[in-house]
Amino acid sequence: MTTRPIIPPQQIDAPLTRYSIFLVLTVADDGGSVAAVRSALAGTEDLVKDVSFRASGAQLSCTVGIGSRVWTRLTGLVQPAELHPFREIAGATHTAVATPGDLLFHIRADRHDVCFELERLLVETLGTATTTVDEVSGFRYFDRRDLLGFVDGTANPIGPDLPDSTVVGDEDPTFAGGSYVLVQKYTHRLAAWQALTTEQQEAIMGRRKADNVELDDVESGQKAHKTLTTITDDGEHDILRDNMPFGSPGSGEFGTYFIGYSRHLWVIEKMLERMFVGDPPGLHDRLLDFSVAQTGTCYFVPPAAMLAGLDDVGPAPTSSDEAPGPGPALAVPPQDAARGTLGIGSLKIPHPTSTTAGRTPR
Ligand code: HEM
Repeated sequence: MTTRPIIPPQQIDAPLTRYSIFLVLTVADDGGSVAAVRSALAGTEDLVKDVSFRASGAQLSCTVGIGSRVWTRLTGLVQPAELHPFREIAGATHTAVATPGDLLFHIRADRHDVCFELERLLVETLGTATTTVDEVSGFRYFDRRDLLGFVDGTANPIGPDLPDSTVVGDEDPTFAGGSYVLVQKYTHRLAAWQALTTEQQEAIMGRRKADNVELDDVESGQKAHKTLTTITDDGEHDILRDNMPFGSPGSGEFGTYFIGYSRHLWVIEKMLERMFVGDPPGLHDRLLDFSVAQTGTCYFVPPAAMLAGLDDVGPAPTSSDEAPGPGPALAVPPQDAARGTLGIGSLKIPHPTSTTAGRTPR
C-alpha cells in the first residue's frame, strides 16, 4: 500500500520531524495588503500540496496562526474568546518579553530543503503585504534533546488527552476545532550551564539527564522546571509542545524555540507566570538563569476549512477595532468549516462533558 504523502494544513499534532521553520511576520495595514494576505493564507493548502507531492515521505506540515492585532481585519470575525496580544510577564529577575508578530507559520518536515521550499513559496506569495520579523530554522538534536542536553517533549499529552487539552470545544462554538499557540525564542548561556554539575542541572529540570526519568517533586523551596509548568486545579492541564533547538556555534548562538499549542491560552500564560514570577513568588524557574526569552507572541490557529475560506471574506473593516459578528463575512460558516475536527487528522473536538471544557483561569 502506498501512503498518501500530503498532510493538510492546521494539523497541530502533525508528526515530530527532524527539521522545522518558525516564521513570524507582521501584516501591512493597507486594505490591499490585507486582501493579499487573506488570499495567500487561503492558498496554504495548495502550496503544501505543491511541495509535498514532490517530496514523498518528508512529512511536510504547516500550521498558520493569526494574531489578535489583525484577526478581525483578516477574518471578518470577532476575536476568539481568549485571543489577545502576548502579555509581558516581568518577574523580579527575568522578563517574558512581548514582541511584534501578526502571523506565525510553523513548518515541519523530515528534510530541511522541503521546509525551505514551502517557506520560500509562502514568502513569495505574501510579497510586500508582510514583513519578516523573525525566522528560525530548528533541527532535531540526537534523541530529541535540547541544547542543554535534556530530552525535551516527553510529557506531551497522548491519546484522548491530546485533543482534550489542545482543541477548542463547545466553550467557544464559533472557533471550535481551532487552537491557541504561543511561541518564544530563547537563547542559552551555554558556558554557564555547562559549568553546573549534572546533578544541579537535573534539579533545575526535574528529570535525569542520561535516561530522562522524572525526579520526585520537592516538598518546599525551589521547584524544578517540570513542576513549575505543571498546572492543576481539579485536574492537570497539558499543552502540546514541539520545541526545536537552533543555533550557530560559529557565532556563539545556542537556542531553544519554544512552541506550545493549547485549548486555553491561559494555561500557557499560567506556566509562564510560574516560571518568571516563581512559585512562591521570588523563586523563579532556574532554567531562566541560563535561557533568555528574546521574543514572545501568541496566535489563534483557525481550523483548516476556516483558513481555506478566507478568500471569500468581504471587504476589510477600516480599523481593527471594528469587529463584525461571526457569520456573514465568512463564506464557510465556522461551525461547518470546523466539522468537529481541526479539519483533518486524528484530532476531534472534545466531548462537551470533557473535564477541561470552559475552565477559566485561576
Ligand atoms: C528554554 C526553554 C525551554 C526548555 C529548554 C525546556 C525544556 C524542557 C524539558 C527538558 C522538559 C522535561 C521533559 C518534557 O517533559 O518535555 C520540559 C518540560 C516541560 N516544559 Fe519546558 N522548556 C522550555 C520552556 C518552556 C516554556 C516557556 C514552557 C511553558 C510556557 C514550558 C512548558 C513545559 C511543560 C508543560 C513541561 C512538562 C511538565 C510535566 O512534566 O508535566 N517549557 N521542558
